[in-house]
Amino acid sequence: MTVGSIVQPTNEAIDRAVGVLRRGGLVGMPTETVYGLAADATNSDAVRSIFAAKGRPSTNPLILHLPDANAARRWVDFADHDWLEESWRVAAGFWPGPLTVVVPRSADVHDVVTAGLDTVGIRVPQHPVARRLLDACGFPLAAPSANPSNYVSPTLAEHVVAGLGDRVQFILDGGVCQCGVESTIIRLTPDGPQLLRPGTITSEQLTSVFGTSVPMTAVRGTETTAMPSPGLLPKHYSPRTPVRFVDRAGDVLTARVARIAFEQINDTGFLGLWTLSPVGDLDEVARRLFGALREADQIGAEAIIVDRCEESGIGRAIMDRLRRACGVGD
Ligand code: TXA
Ligand code: MG
Repeated sequence: MTVGSIVQPTNEAIDRAVGVLRRGGLVGMPTETVYGLAADATNSDAVRSIFAAKGRPSTNPLILHLPDANAARRWVDFADHDWLEESWRVAAGFWPGPLTVVVPRSADVHDVVTAGLDTVGIRVPQHPVARRLLDACGFPLAAPSANPSNYVSPTLAEHVVAGLGDRVQFILDGGVCQCGVESTIIRLTPDGPQLLRPGTITSEQLTSVFGTSVPMTAVRGTETTAMPSPGLLPKHYSPRTPVRFVDRAGDVLTARVARIAFEQINDTGFLGLWTLSPVGDLDEVARRLFGALREADQIGAEAIIVDRCEESGIGRAIMDRLRRACGVGD
């Protein structure tokens, strides 16, 4: 099998993936959010090769993927944080699912995973292929989104090949990712949960189960300081073609524009037009957004012009990713 090929997730392919991971290799793993670039989190050399493959600064920590909340406990320091049990239980109610929880880490987590931080991000994904892989591994998988650092996250196996094909042993095919944007990230603290990255699990859902508001934190990362979250760099998830919101499109000629619309529009004459959801369903917009950004990036347009949406529910994650694609931070 050639490096970087896409394979169907048969039992044999899962076994082969476990073998590659045990030997310190990298495997493309489908999840319900985006595809991940997975390595054995207990093998520091393997984890280092994730950073190398993505061109990711070693100051940007990785998250651990586990098969269930119980298996995750070993990597979390409950003993020194008696407030943690209760909020962990509430957060774990979203698992398996698109939620990452940042918690105090146990001494067993390698420094290279957390960039030396005393916290670790934990996620229990829902995608059946990710679950089968994690069950078969018996060790946690460190897995960032499987894209070169700062480019758009992959929502199809083919996207992983396009960005990292020569750096990954193979990619398990899990079809198109159902959520289409990366997991919601919250940090659990003695003063309550904080939102680090909006996603499919919405602020409204979090507020409802925690019984308290879950504020977006103002933490900002830089390329050089070990840094709380993600896309907290203002320029992130970004195509090479400049991205602009439709009300800031300026005077670029329609014929040179790649237009991404959230619902049916009447304007015509664009170099390319992507209508993400004929009826303006924002879950569908989220699912198709990254694929459209990638395609729009390939037609030689002068600018990619995108809609805005209301910042509630999944709309918060969509606007967050688009602001970063525009390079305007928040
Ligand atoms: O949906 C997802 O979360 C996907 C799939 C593959 O699981 N993974 C993903 O990983 O998006 P990544 O590395 O692309 O984004 C996770 C973000 C990182 O940018 C990092 O800054 C942040 O989580 N992060 C990781 N550990 C953290 C920590 N201890 N404290 C704060 N932020 C953390
Ligand atoms: Mg990423």
